[in-house]
Amino acid sequence: MNASLLAVETHQLTKHFDDVIAVDHLNLSVPRGIIFGFLGPNGAGKSTTIHMLTGLLPPTGGTGRVGGFDIREAALEVKKRIGVVPEELGLYERLTVTEQLELVGRLYGVRRSEIQRRTTTLLNLLELEGSADKMILDYSQGMRKKTALACALIHTPDILFLDEPFQSIDPISTKALKAVLREMVHRRETTVFFSTHVMELAERFCDQVGIIHKGRLLTVGSIPDLRVQAGLPADAPLEDLFVQIVGGQDEDDGLLNWLTGAEK
Ligand SMILES: Nc1ncnc2c1ncn2[C@@H]1O[C@H](COP(=O)(O)OP(=O)(O)OP(=O)(O)O)[C@@H](O)[C@H]1O
Ligand SMILES: [Mg+2]
Repeated sequence: MNASLLAVETHQLTKHFDDVIAVDHLNLSVPRGIIFGFLGPNGAGKSTTIHMLTGLLPPTGGTGRVGGFDIREAALEVKKRIGVVPEELGLYERLTVTEQLELVGRLYGVRRSEIQRRTTTLLNLLELEGSADKMILDYSQGMRKKTALACALIHTPDILFLDEPFQSIDPISTKALKAVLREMVHRRETTVFFSTHVMELAERFCDQVGIIHKGRLLTVGSIPDLRVQAGLPADAPLEDLFVQIVGGQDEDDGLLNWLTGAEK
């Protein structure tokens, strides 16, 4: 595919932490203007990949391009075009959500009046108006995640990297947020690259998914395509699909009998 049409492109992208290979020669192409779900079990390398693509961690080897810019050579150009909600959120605990949004908006060069307008809309979308004057320190987990999401959206980025974006967010806000993200993809050709463990979410929300396991990309495609590739029927449970692809165990082998009560 023409490189300019790609939002994310990696070539042999690799990250080692001492002797752990967190991401292992990852080759991935994500077209612009789609919702891409990055799936994989705990410790698969999803967050590490997101960290490398967004400039939060230097790769050990290989290359990556985001929005057409090299993640190492043109890190600032990448940063200008992306919005990120990392796993660890990285919020300023002693600011209010309004102050946080003003800070981030100004860093990205958004005009003050525009920041105010966008802040009102985002707080309304995420139902945070009632808590706008509280410090992040006093926020619940879900409110923190919403604050991080608002910060990722305030400068209307071209590409969004969201690590488990809906985890701990209530269903009403999740629904509103998903509708806005879909609209951004549809109208502005925004790309949403997000990680999740939730297969149902991936099936309903993603145009394409990639499955990573032990740092290696196992497969890429739509969930119906993956079912076909795995030789499963169209109504096969998503859990079965995931287990089949990552090679987990279907049946327990009796080792847990002491816990389940089968051993008396
Ligand atoms: N800072 C770090 N130092 C050492 N090892 C790390 C570090 N960050 C991640 N790892 C290791 O790299 C591997 C991939 O971790 P990563 O956080 O990318 O997984 P993940 O797919 O995001 O998992 P989860 O679904 O649990 O969030 C794991 O083996 C993890 O222990
Ligand atoms: Mg993670």
